[in-house]
Amino acid sequence: MKQVTIERLGHQGDGIAAGPVFVPGTLPGELVEGEITGGIMDAPRILRPSEMRVSAPCRHAKSCGGCQLQHARPDFVAEWKQSVVRQALAAHGIEATFREIATSPEQTRRRAGFSAKRTKKGAQVGFHRKRSDVIVEVPECRVVDPKLSAALPLVEALAVLGASRKAELSVLVTTSLGGLDVVVKGGKDADAEMQQQLSELARRHNCARIAWGDDAVLTRRPPMQKMGRAEVSPPPGAFLQATPQGEAALLADVLEHIEGASHVVDLFAGCGTFALPIAETARVHAVEGDKAMTSALDHGWRHAQGLRHVTTEARDLFRNPLLPAELARFDAAVIDPPRAGAEAQVAQLCEAKIPRIAFVSCNPVTFARDAAALLRAGYVLDGLRVVDQFRWSTHIELVAGFKRQ
Ligand SMILES: C[S@@+](CC[C@H](N)C(=O)[O-])C[C@H]1O[C@@H](n2cnc3c(N)ncnc32)[C@H](O)[C@@H]1O
Repeated sequence: MKQVTIERLGHQGDGIAAGPVFVPGTLPGELVEGEITGGIMDAPRILRPSEMRVSAPCRHAKSCGGCQLQHARPDFVAEWKQSVVRQALAAHGIEATFREIATSPEQTRRRAGFSAKRTKKGAQVGFHRKRSDVIVEVPECRVVDPKLSAALPLVEALAVLGASRKAELSVLVTTSLGGLDVVVKGGKDADAEMQQQLSELARRHNCARIAWGDDAVLTRRPPMQKMGRAEVSPPPGAFLQATPQGEAALLADVLEHIEGASHVVDLFAGCGTFALPIAETARVHAVEGDKAMTSALDHGWRHAQGLRHVTTEARDLFRNPLLPAELARFDAAVIDPPRAGAEAQVAQLCEAKIPRIAFVSCNPVTFARDAAALLRAGYVLDGLRVVDQFRWSTHIELVAGFKRQ
């Protein structure tokens, strides 16, 4: 047994003591005791708790691997998430002030990725235990929309129907205006009989759509998502913002950062989360790597009332970013890249000198790199906000504006 004092929280949410020793479930300042194996104290006894410690609100917190920070006060989590962004920016010599963090309420996540395994009695369904392939049942998850918790019997039925004895099924369930939108991976091939049974399950559980691997997509109703005045039916599993509240917070800041623009380019546009609401006041060119997503966006725009003109382009913005000559016609840009950031596209934006840019990011490290390039090109950073859609997890998202001086 060894005693250590936690000095800081690592990026995966573990407490870190000198050594380094990683101690999950602990907070800075805490004195803890336990066995250390391979630099990890897996089952610490807390001898001196932090003032920031609370009892985890979720009864599954100890076993489930979904949340890493349920044992910390919300103000601690908010400050920690901001400090991760602050440090990433400081590594590039950037200082920034933060707007108030926007944390999504409990039980608002619109999508859950469940794991499911067949058992002798039926199936086991839930999330993975921390650092393990054991599945933990989570009927009272505090993170996901209750409609997703209510889908657990459906996920179980899907596993009984189509999981092989050995392989694990991954079942992505998303709420939609038409009912549950489900994508199943890792199952047996869907023959005609199984498709018939899937159809019966979809009816019984009021699903809008079930996509079974790459074999079969069964659509009872279009799984519409509201994007401004438009409704969009995304391709199965396509990116969506994690919570309606997080999406609204991001969108409000994006609209503020590009206010007054008349022609906007939306880079990494997805299915139109930002492009379609922006089209209420400005023309938009939406660029996205996935053709199925640009088609969904275009279809949503064509069926909506009262929007300005929206054009779409399927294009790989890592290999083939929009060039300054192509960017010259826009007076604002929105950019929301994946975790890798947008180094190539930002280099072109720096040349293009568009007056205003709204930047949404899910990775503080690549954001800081891309922000530094924009600042070197003469932009100033304005209105940085952490938007916490992944409550109690270590995931961090942010939105910021860049203006030319
Ligand atoms: C963080 S999501 C943002 C989507 C959209 N802005 C939204 O809020 O719903 C990033 C998007 O970038 C797209 N993407 C990933 N790699 C890309 C690439 N190399 N070129 C263009 N788009 C890419 C993904 O398909 C995804 O839709």
